[in-house]
Amino acid sequence: MLRYWLIGLTLVVTASTISIALYDPTDGIRPVEDADFYKNGRYPEAQVRLGNLLFFDKILSGNKNIACVTCHQPTLGTSDALALPLGEGAAGLGRERRVVADTPLLGRVPRNSQALYFLGAREFSSLFHDGRVEVDPNGNWESGFWSPAREQLPAGLDNVLAVQAMFPVLSDIEMVGHKGENPVATAVALDKLAGPDGAWALLARRLQAIPDYVDLFQAAYPDIANPEDITFVHAANAIAAFEATAFRADGSPFDRYLKTRDPGHLTRAARRGMALFYGPAGCSDCHSGKFQTDQKFHAIAMPQIGPGKNDGWDRSYWRATGFAGRLEDHGRGRVTGRAEDNLRFRTPSLRNVELTGPWGHAGAYATLEDTVRHHLDPVGALDRYDPARLELAALGTVIEQTAMGSRLEHRPVNPARIADYEKRDRWVQQSPALRQTIAAANQLDPVRLTDDQVDDLVAFLKALTDPRSRDQSNLIPSRVPSGLPVAD
Ligand code: HEC
Ligand code: HEC
Repeated sequence: MLRYWLIGLTLVVTASTISIALYDPTDGIRPVEDADFYKNGRYPEAQVRLGNLLFFDKILSGNKNIACVTCHQPTLGTSDALALPLGEGAAGLGRERRVVADTPLLGRVPRNSQALYFLGAREFSSLFHDGRVEVDPNGNWESGFWSPAREQLPAGLDNVLAVQAMFPVLSDIEMVGHKGENPVATAVALDKLAGPDGAWALLARRLQAIPDYVDLFQAAYPDIANPEDITFVHAANAIAAFEATAFRADGSPFDRYLKTRDPGHLTRAARRGMALFYGPAGCSDCHSGKFQTDQKFHAIAMPQIGPGKNDGWDRSYWRATGFAGRLEDHGRGRVTGRAEDNLRFRTPSLRNVELTGPWGHAGAYATLEDTVRHHLDPVGALDRYDPARLELAALGTVIEQTAMGSRLEHRPVNPARIADYEKRDRWVQQSPALRQTIAAANQLDPVRLTDDQVDDLVAFLKALTDPRSRDQSNLIPSRVPSGLPVAD
């Protein structure tokens, strides 16, 4: 039976390979062009320059110890080479990043740091793995955007990429730190985001006090007459202008192919991979269009490692260790509140995907090939996934959160119990019940491909790399206006 099935498959593949000569499945895809981007991709140079400096400046973090670039490095595919980032309080960059003794850390950031390529294109109308920042289609929100800040989100943000930039600075684990450590973190813990004592205003005041920034903001935005006119909305718009400009990456072999339709721009393996990708392998059912994403949400049984997002009601970790923790991450479901959206994540763009590993929303896979193979047999791969093989730096000093909202407090985890605490980040993967939940939500059907075909798919994915994106160290400023260190 299996043999007949395999012969059938071979015939299908052969037939489709032959038909490629007549019908190119990428025919409907137009090359990347200026019109795909907000403002046609052209931002005033002064805004881009300002955004570049802000992106690298630790002044935007509560304890002045981390910048956007720490997790989005222009030499590491705009990510950080870690499965799960170590946020504020840790030190070092990329794989060298470590927890520092005596600096309390809440743990690892629950999701893999996303790449930033092409996000200035209009079709990216929602951001984050779960799309919790979105263009508001119904005009219900004054700001024009749906976001976790709801009615506190100010007006005047240029686009959804600028909206996104309002949020990392509010995240305790990423940038702002913990209640009591600095006034911005305390404001966030009290849910004071907007208004004159809100977190954004406190950060803007830091910028207003630095003369170099005042000059830069005035050059970028004519509506700023006095330092007090600088708001965090200006900063977010400038950061978005920088990201949209610096991380547009349409110089890949695939782009040259789309522009000229000359197959010579792709290796033979990449051409075979492209035919599979947009054909029988079914990849383009979700990774469609020029950026290889339908901008929608799907559950594909990706392994989940890390502390999760406090979703679900499973208490097995708590019962086994005594530490609090609802360790699931329900992805899109936690934004829409609809059960059918649970465990769905946004289809990532595959542009420059070769450079952005580890892969998956929790960085579970260390190689691109394993990531592709996961798709061929999602539930089987989830079951076979061995979290013990995953490289995670030791946590060392950690603190525990003991309550929410205005009563939020932290206390150090007893060092003798760190091993139990460390179990948390591999727990979901090791719990058969939790794995079953992820498997049950899966929407991706298995596909049977030969090893050669997998190689061809990976060759195609590598043809999506813009060679200029391999090393954008030219973006690293020699100094930033706050005078805080740039290089670590
Ligand atoms: C501690 C690491 C860390 C820092 C610092 C950080 N990020 Fe991120 N970034 C992440 C992670 C993790 C995600 C995915 C989060 C999620 O889906 O919940 C992300 C997501 C994003 C996205 C969404 C990408 C997409 O395709 O949806 C953008 C844009 C972004 N970050 C920009 C920034 C900017 C701008 C800053 C500074 C203001 C910043 N980040 C600071 C880790 C970080
Ligand atoms: C049913 C929709 C769907 C199909 C079909 C699909 N993918 Fe995916 N893919 C996704 C989603 C959703 C994610 C992110 C999942 C997550 O992180 O939980 C993803 C993630 C990936 C990633 C990791 C990207 C990153 O930045 O971490 C790669 C690589 C990838 N897919 C390649 C492929 C290839 C190759 C195929 C065809 C064999 C394929 N996909 C078919 C939906 C799909």
